[in-house]
Amino acid sequence: MNNHSELDSNNKYKILFVCLGNICRSPAAHGIFCHIVKENGMQELFSVDSAGTYGGHQGELPDRRMRRAASARGYELTHRSRPVSSMDFLDFDLIIAMDDQNYEDLMHLAPSVEASHKIKRMASYLTTRDITYIPDPYYMGTEGFNLVLDLLEEGCRNIFSMLSRKA
Ligand code: 4NP
Repeated sequence: MNNHSELDSNNKYKILFVCLGNICRSPAAHGIFCHIVKENGMQELFSVDSAGTYGGHQGELPDRRMRRAASARGYELTHRSRPVSSMDFLDFDLIIAMDDQNYEDLMHLAPSVEASHKIKRMASYLTTRDITYIPDPYYMGTEGFNLVLDLLEEGCRNIFSMLSRKA
């Protein structure tokens, strides 16, 4: 990871959330993290995006079920799905994978050892649960989407605290 003690308005800290389709988990994490940044008036310091390791949903809005569950918590998800690119490893300071497969796929795509050090697992930022990955809610019911949002809210708050403590 780059030195994020350099959080200032001339040098935004860039964070990318990644899942498989970029229509459920990562756009939700993206929306939640943006919400936290805004809540803390730190929009000048962070740049946030999300992407998928699979490009088959490119251009689509997040899954309707995720948009509905997120909206009920005050997050409006408007991101359009896009695939991860090799440029992302140069552009972003921190790349957060939702599950082990995303992590492995990103590790294979990383163009250098330095770039691979930017990749972290979202579950590594969970402090209240013994969970190692963010489950894919695509084939789950409403409870699955709400569980994912609970996990992402906790992980995003912890990532934000870690980064802003170092500001
Ligand atoms: P996501 O969920 O990776 O959280 O966006 C999925 C979305 C689509 C598919 C799988 C997972 N799919 O197979 O199309």
